[in-house]
Amino acid sequence: MPISIKFLPENRLVEASQEETLLEAALREEVDIPHSCGGFGTCGTCRVWVREGLDRLPPRNEVEQEMATDRGFDDHERLCCQNHPCAGLVVEIPTSDFED
Ligand code: FES
Repeated sequence: MPISIKFLPENRLVEASQEETLLEAALREEVDIPHSCGGFGTCGTCRVWVREGLDRLPPRNEVEQEMATDRGFDDHERLCCQNHPCAGLVVEIPTSDFED
């Protein structure tokens, strides 16, 4: 069953499956998310802020946790390439590295 994910700031609703990552779903629907490393969890450019649904995302995997520790991510900063859709997820794509 498809899961709707909302991407801010453009308010784009994307229908995704549990099998794909947030990054894969976004790119399929032409939502522009930087992804320099190609989805391997090593560049950090696909980082988003989770605005709703953080409590339904599973804990970070090892790859994401290493990045989060290295860069001092807040709890709501997650990598699109390392997470899968869950119901009610709303994420915001940073428009600049200097915002939070
Ligand atoms: S695409 Fe590089 S960390 Fe997600």
